[in-house]
Amino acid sequence: MRKNIVAGNWKMNKTLPEGLALATELDKMLSGCQPKCEVIIAPPFIHLASITATIDTKKIGVSAQNCADKESGAYTGEVSAAMVKSTGANYVILGHSERRTYYGETPAILKEKVNLALKNELTPIFCIGEVLAERESGIYFDVVKSQIEGSLFHLSAEDFSKIILAYEPVWAIGTGKTATPQQAQEMHAFIRKTITEKYGKNIAENTSILYGGSCNPANAKELFANEDVDGGLIGGASLKAADFKAIIDTF
Ligand code: PGA
Repeated sequence: MRKNIVAGNWKMNKTLPEGLALATELDKMLSGCQPKCEVIIAPPFIHLASITATIDTKKIGVSAQNCADKESGAYTGEVSAAMVKSTGANYVILGHSERRTYYGETPAILKEKVNLALKNELTPIFCIGEVLAERESGIYFDVVKSQIEGSLFHLSAEDFSKIILAYEPVWAIGTGKTATPQQAQEMHAFIRKTITEKYGKNIAENTSILYGGSCNPANAKELFANEDVDGGLIGGASLKAADFKAIIDTF
């Protein structure tokens, strides 16, 4: 059966010493207990190698927040999937709405990133979600479906089964305006149905679909209680170890 997962997206926060301190604090909090879900943190690139060398990565998986759409070469400032893998990280967030909006990442670019992540044995945490205008005009199912089709549906069943999805309605990210449990469940069920139509029930039932967008210790339980919500991708609330741990403990 699919895994429940709580993943922390640190975004562009924390210097290296601050990041190491946060990861170490979380590591200490989780030592001696067995979380009932998989735990992942996604610090900035430059923290990855130090953090994987410091914490128990069997207990806390480590993820990058992005990787390049090219394998290697003259792409100043970029970080390849192979480089991420070589730090000891095993996951990569791809398609986050901030990357799509501020850095022009299109479904076609994301398709390349997904391919390179899988080639380098990184598990993509692939983000999808509609903006407010798309929600209000009622086209949100179509938007999410085309994001999935455009970057993931070229994959073989075997490769698709390695993907973690994160539904993050853009209007809920960093706004304090969380989707209601009903809105989350409705979309997650739609995503699972979309996967079923392409890859069959078995793969759909085994795909973890996380919710993201102003998820915090106060609302996580209600959100995660939904049948098709398999955990969360947490931004702001992952920057404090106690809050992140409280979200983990809702499982
Ligand atoms: P937020 O961010 O929890 O701060 O809304 C979630 C995300 O962007 O992954």
